[in-house]
Amino acid sequence: MTNEIVLSDRLRNIMAFLPNGSYFADIGSDHAYLPIAVCQNDQEAKAIAGELNEGPYQSALKHVKQQLLSDRIEVIKGDGLEVIQNKPVKQVVIAGMGGGLIRSILEKRKHLLKDVERLILQPNVDSECIREWLLDTEYQLIAERILEEDGHIYEILVADMLTTNRVREYSAKELLFGPYLLKDKNRVFKQKWQRELTNNHNIIRQMKQAKKPDLNKIKQFEIKGKWIQEVLEDD
Ligand SMILES: C[S@@+](CC[C@H](N)C(=O)[O-])C[C@H]1O[C@@H](n2cnc3c(N)ncnc32)[C@H](O)[C@@H]1O
Repeated sequence: MTNEIVLSDRLRNIMAFLPNGSYFADIGSDHAYLPIAVCQNDQEAKAIAGELNEGPYQSALKHVKQQLLSDRIEVIKGDGLEVIQNKPVKQVVIAGMGGGLIRSILEKRKHLLKDVERLILQPNVDSECIREWLLDTEYQLIAERILEEDGHIYEILVADMLTTNRVREYSAKELLFGPYLLKDKNRVFKQKWQRELTNNHNIIRQMKQAKKPDLNKIKQFEIKGKWIQEVLEDD
């Protein structure tokens, strides 16, 4: 029996960055809700749902079959980008994982991205390391979103393949906060960094209580705390 998938706010925001008629891969697709919703909303769209683990892979297969979308969504079991080998996908989505894992998935088989025009990345933590990674690639950040859902704060980073030279590099502060998010500084952004500031204070306090405090590390956290304070105050 088919029925329309109702996406979370987070996945709906990700979906909004896919063009009409997209051919995309959702790496770490789990239940395959994103490819299913995209194909239900756009008759021209096609997708690959990639999954490393057996349980989520079976779940994706089952949902795609139930929704009668097996002709447009290929569910493939595999590690990261290997599922796009010889598949001319134009967009890649990697969502709901840590920034470090997303970065390592991209880095491991970056040669397979040569025809991919857009990356839509949603790290649960550590988006800074993805922004840093993008600087060493053929991709340019073109948009960022921050949103809150069920008490969690999520960031979405969108990067397009460069068609000309890179417009500009980013400062260390822009890499940490996000160049687009920093321009906007909306309510959720402030909430996120207020939380981070509190965590930062606690970490510094604990580090100072150690028998042999690591002064270099403490300095790094103090600089980060100063930046957060500046960004929150400068409004
Ligand atoms: C927390 S879920 C996120 C699911 C979905 N992308 C979302 O945002 O709702 C992460 C999924 O990534 C899968 N995964 C982890 N590492 C992977 C890898 N190297 N390649 C493919 N899938 C992976 C896990 O099995 C899991 O189903």
